[in-house]
Amino acid sequence: MEKVTLHDKTFRLFIPNADIEKAIDAVAERLNKDYADATDEDPVILLCTLNGAVIYAAELLKRVNFPLVLKACKLSSYEGTASTGVVKTEVPLPKHLEGKRVLIVEDIVDTGTTIVAMMQQLKEHKVKDARVCTLLLKNEVYDKDVKLDYVAMEIPNRFIVGFGLDYNELGRNIKDIYVLDDSK
Ligand code: IMP
Ligand code: MG
Repeated sequence: MEKVTLHDKTFRLFIPNADIEKAIDAVAERLNKDYADATDEDPVILLCTLNGAVIYAAELLKRVNFPLVLKACKLSSYEGTASTGVVKTEVPLPKHLEGKRVLIVEDIVDTGTTIVAMMQQLKEHKVKDARVCTLLLKNEVYDKDVKLDYVAMEIPNRFIVGFGLDYNELGRNIKDIYVLDDSK
């Protein structure tokens, strides 16, 4: 499909699924090297940020081979097509994270407001190590100090949907990534 319409907006094809999967392969390879020392007694906590990162987290799970425990949380900062700058905690972080290595799996880092809030909360939970693994980064917008350890793809400052990302909850189940088409 060249174009899709969700609610009142039209989007055009931006990143085909095959390219997304290739980028995920490369990240998974790095993770397998970097976490090769994880053990059943000291597994990595893979923290999936709902809802947007579910597909990315699932694709990573199919590719990584170190011991891990899957957890989820939900913070949100976006309404419609723009960041509100205020982070709401809808599903809090899991308990018993003290001393653990946590890998945050995010769909997209835009202004970074969400990731800063999440890092702050992880610090309060006294984790041993927290790293960020995001499918997408709007590198022209991101202006925070939190290190983004694993970035699968960088994109310009455009609003996108698909592969887990939504426009007012629609579009998550599109397998390619589409960009807002403002030519019309
Ligand atoms: P930040 O807090 O500004 O970094 O925004 C991060 C969150 O906003 C992401 O986890 C997404 O849920 C949402 N978001 C940011 N950019 C987009 C986009 O282009 N499409 C859909 N959701 C987005
Ligand atoms: Mg999100």
